Amino acid sequence: MAAAVRLLPTVTFALLSAFPAAVSSRRDVLELGHADFDYLAAEHETMLVKFYAPWCGHCKKLAPEFEKAATRLKGTVQLAKVDCTAHSETCARFGVSGYPTLKIFRYGRDSAPYEGPRTAEGIYHYMKKQTGPDSVHLKTEEDLKTFVNNYDASIVGVFSGPDSSLLAEYLKAAGLLREQFRFAHTTDLKLGEEHGVTSETVLLFRPPRLDNMFEDSVVAFTDYLTISSLRRFVRDHIYGLCPHMTLENRDRLRVRDLLTAYYDLDYHHNIRGSNYWRNRVMKVVSKYARRGLTFSVANKKDFLSELEDDFGLGTSDGGELPFITIRSKLGHKYTMREEFTRDGRSLERFLDDYFAGRLKSYVKSEPVPERNSAAVKVVVAESFDDIVNDSDKDVLIQFYSPSCPHCKKLEPVYRELADTLYSDPNIVIAKMNAVDNDVPPGYDVQGYPTIYFAPVGKKDEPIRYEGGREVQDFLKFLKREASHSLAFSGSKDEL
Ligand SMILES: *[C@@H]1O[C@H](CO)[C@@H](O)[C@H](O)[C@H]1NC(C)=O
Repeated sequence: MAAAVRLLPTVTFALLSAFPAAVSSRRDVLELGHADFDYLAAEHETMLVKFYAPWCGHCKKLAPEFEKAATRLKGTVQLAKVDCTAHSETCARFGVSGYPTLKIFRYGRDSAPYEGPRTAEGIYHYMKKQTGPDSVHLKTEEDLKTFVNNYDASIVGVFSGPDSSLLAEYLKAAGLLREQFRFAHTTDLKLGEEHGVTSETVLLFRPPRLDNMFEDSVVAFTDYLTISSLRRFVRDHIYGLCPHMTLENRDRLRVRDLLTAYYDLDYHHNIRGSNYWRNRVMKVVSKYARRGLTFSVANKKDFLSELEDDFGLGTSDGGELPFITIRSKLGHKYTMREEFTRDGRSLERFLDDYFAGRLKSYVKSEPVPERNSAAVKVVVAESFDDIVNDSDKDVLIQFYSPSCPHCKKLEPVYRELADTLYSDPNIVIAKMNAVDNDVPPGYDVQGYPTIYFAPVGKKDEPIRYEGGREVQDFLKFLKREASHSLAFSGSKDEL
């Protein structure tokens, strides 16, 4: 009761200072400070605390997501925030060294770093799994049915009694993995009978909405139970033949070569419609299982900007038919050009071509410029091999974005460098717009500008340029790394 009373001033302040649309969610985030942190934190079984600074850009981006998640989690998990510019001693006490830092507290005790996604949806799912016991104790058939009837997959340990040594090991594993998966257990072997269980084991139930005739919806663990063997079992089986890829799990699915069918998939409102196309996809891909390619389905709208950027999908492409892509873990991309046919034949042809190596990978490229006579050569994805991989030339290649200020600043310097070396027949100074062209594998471009040097004889191992941004800095680097001694034109030949 005391806590509620103490909270009032904060709540009122938020109500007055926020414009109406933000009010309902803003007040769901508890504001904590030096004076009341321990006192208020101790009241909550599970609490997610954001340590932030008002000026930090990532904090500003996170704030509306955090507020939305707080509203959805109301009543289960409390979300709170500490402004580190006003309460630096509280932040120092919990070892906060960067903003924002997110930590999970249990009854006021710092229990674990938050390592989940930073979207409202992601925070919601991640924190939802933080509440309650590591593994839910199921006592009746009804408990079991209710538990596995969930949007996410379920892992259920079936044990012979409360003092089973395997149960102890299972609970340890659940404690470690609960953030990623849902765990439950029973100490009554009878509960497993329906699924063919005769001795202690672990069952993995795939989400009921993804039930299909091409694979079992329940998988039994047959290995000896340890934390790592259980982790491996879950990782290998949780997705099944054709999981539903979302913005949250896409990175985990993309560690392998992955085919995805994008369409108007919506498992919240239209399970049958969503499964109509998935079943048609599965009918084909089930024949190609265990050949190194994995499969998935996804909502096209969720991934639209990605499909436009990475695969050149036009807004009018496809209509209601699934749009099929393959993305290899190394970054090679393929799209099925033929329309998806309901009999699955076109997908079959696409897969046959893929496994036979007959597909040409999709490379996003601007058109090759007709004239390219300026000192700084313009490279596009399609001419990358011709220009940067030219085996007779040392090539300095700048990856830039048309909108980046640092690139604009570098432009006159880069031009002067190119002018200086214009008469050198062995060296090429080049640039590529890395927003409208795919960066080839082997070049790691995370920010702009990123500059690489691809010297003669080492085209497969380009060197990243990390020197200064003045003409002299570049010349010093090139003098050291070039395969020939440099030939200067203009006034720089005294170097
Ligand atoms: C450039 O050459 C390297 C080494 O031969 C090769 O691995 C790479 O694929 C080539 N890049 C392009 C874009 O063709």
